[in-house]
Amino acid sequence: MHTVTSISGLRAVSETWRSAGQRIAFVPTMGSLHAGHLQLVKRARALAERVVVSVFVNPTQFGPGEDFESYPRTPEKDVQQLAEQNVDLLFLPSVDIIYPYGVDRAVRIEIPEVSEGLCGDFRPGHFAGVATVVLRLFNLVQPHVALFGEKDYQQLAVIRRMVQDLYLPVEIEGVATVREADGLAMSSRNQYLTDEQRRQAPLLYATLREIAEQVRLQARPYPELEAQGLRQLEQAGFIPDYFSIRHADTLQVVAPGERQCVVLAAARLGKARLIDNVRVQL
Ligand code: PAJ
Repeated sequence: MHTVTSISGLRAVSETWRSAGQRIAFVPTMGSLHAGHLQLVKRARALAERVVVSVFVNPTQFGPGEDFESYPRTPEKDVQQLAEQNVDLLFLPSVDIIYPYGVDRAVRIEIPEVSEGLCGDFRPGHFAGVATVVLRLFNLVQPHVALFGEKDYQQLAVIRRMVQDLYLPVEIEGVATVREADGLAMSSRNQYLTDEQRRQAPLLYATLREIAEQVRLQARPYPELEAQGLRQLEQAGFIPDYFSIRHADTLQVVAPGERQCVVLAAARLGKARLIDNVRVQL
């Protein structure tokens, strides 16, 4: 595995591959890698001859008071896991490389509609930060295909919209959420949970599944189902941010009978803010 930190190092390798007609798959991450990230890497391996992974904790997607400084960083373990997956190139840029004019003077990408509501309401500027860094990484790596997890459902929708609206020459591939045995979606932030909170945490996914089933059965009006989801999370000790039934592609509020839905929730449990979602097809 090549590890590069400079733009020239990255370009030298990726241009050789491109001129040899090889397809490049790209997995952007913030490191502290777990089996969810590695699933993206495995899928990338199946889609292209060359796999590039980036590890960059992106300051512009963290709000004031969020965990940018304390975000878990495990560089040696990340390198080892990626080498084991036969990743071809690991890109480890510094903040100066990604933001040459400084974080505060960077050109920013704002993506209306899909960035609004849900996590967008609770993390102002977050999706602009994500889109801003992902576009920069796409321009640097120039992949044919890039992979993102469905766990971060709104993020995936934001990236898809950016790619379509800006005619970016990259395919976006969504990858199903990888879960612990008890259903909890894997996340670098799960390590913020105490043992007791870790035991409660799977109730987020259990509640989403229960409400998704009610949507499938068209049991009751959606606002009632959303209120039930919120109530169940509160009773289980979560502080929910939202619990919402939306259109699977546009993330807009849906009327009953809409065939492509997704039930999404975000809830705080101690120091961790957990997000998860379940698709429903009627
Ligand atoms: P990060 O949280 O490190 O996640 C990197 C990628 O792994 C994202 O596409 C995310 O959706 C995916 N992922 C995380 N947990 C997963 C799980 N349990 N199952 C499947 N996929 C999972 O998301 C980011 O970083 C950043 O916002 C980034 C896109 C890198 C931009 O900075």
